[in-house]
Amino acid sequence: MAGNWKMYKTPAETHAFFEAFKPKVSDAAHCDIVICPPFPDLHAAVKETADSNVAIGAQNLHWGREGAVTGEVSGHMLQAVGCDYVIIAHSERRQYFGETEVDVVRKTQAALEYDLKPIICVGERLEERESGRTEEVLADMFDGGIAPLAAEQFAKIVIAYEPVWAIGTGKTATPQIAADAHRFIRSRAAATFGEKAAEAVRILYGGSVKPDNVKTLMAEEEIDGALVGGASLDPASFAAIVKF
Ligand code: PGA
Repeated sequence: MAGNWKMYKTPAETHAFFEAFKPKVSDAAHCDIVICPPFPDLHAAVKETADSNVAIGAQNLHWGREGAVTGEVSGHMLQAVGCDYVIIAHSERRQYFGETEVDVVRKTQAALEYDLKPIICVGERLEERESGRTEEVLADMFDGGIAPLAAEQFAKIVIAYEPVWAIGTGKTATPQIAADAHRFIRSRAAATFGEKAAEAVRILYGGSVKPDNVKTLMAEEEIDGALVGGASLDPASFAAIVKF
């Protein structure tokens, strides 16, 4: 269960969040819990969650180790600050910053090089779904961004299916729609990496996951977890999602 804070919260707000959140989930052993704050909050988040069952991730990384690349943050730095995860190619990165499948491959390889678990996001836009192109889009994203990985790299990634039309809109994909997409992604994974690897890869659903819809989504066998934006900002609501 992963929370993506996007561009919300200061270090002081990060501290307040974890003070309230940690005791609420301290007995949750059924899943991995991850929070992905903005870069300036990572240090505070790692400190707050030391000796807890909550792991910390970043929302993006550059593929280099260091260099003259103004405004960027490397996997090497994220590892040094204590991150365990990193989100790659969230739809907002694709939409506003032009990230492509080429970026997915190089960022994923860089993340793995620094022992960060990549959470790779894929998902179709509304017009793509409405024109019946969902599977084509998912196939292109898989083939371009994930299929080029080596088998041992694929074994370490998490995939997040996030239909763009469901993100921040309050329009959740029905469990059926999400499960169909997950099944398609898994079949693609099976074709490239084999049945066993495809069965083992975790596929999270993201897009307006809330405490009141998480149970029906998680009831789908194909859905292994959730990537949560808005509802991860509040300790009580994200705790309720974790403990669905
Ligand atoms: P949302 O965001 O839960 O606010 O829809 C999900 C995401 O963008 O990861």
